[in-house]
Amino acid sequence: MTEVDGAHTVMILDTGESCVCKGNESVLHALVRARKRIPTGCRGGGCGVCKVEVVAGSYSKRAMSRAHVSETEEAERRVLACCIYPTADLQLRIIGKLQRAVCRPKQAGA
Ligand code: FES
Repeated sequence: MTEVDGAHTVMILDTGESCVCKGNESVLHALVRARKRIPTGCRGGGCGVCKVEVVAGSYSKRAMSRAHVSETEEAERRVLACCIYPTADLQLRIIGKLQRAVCRPKQAGA
């Protein structure tokens, strides 16, 4: 769908919302930009707060802590949003601690 300057659409299946992830921007960064009130952790692959399951789409990734993502999980596309960069439109589910913040209804004016 989106392919402007390397941007891709990220759809959150839990809520039906989507946001644009710009080129060279992590998925977590795009989520934060779209949902300004979500708390984030380290943003560096070390705390595991931002774990997601990518259901569809492709991405590149950087190293993430094995304490939070096992090799099996990574192979099954359960990864850290702060460590992945879409190379196509993505569909994902939030499975980490961000779930409560992302999946709660947006407040009026948010
Ligand atoms: S924010 Fe800490 S691992 Fe992603």
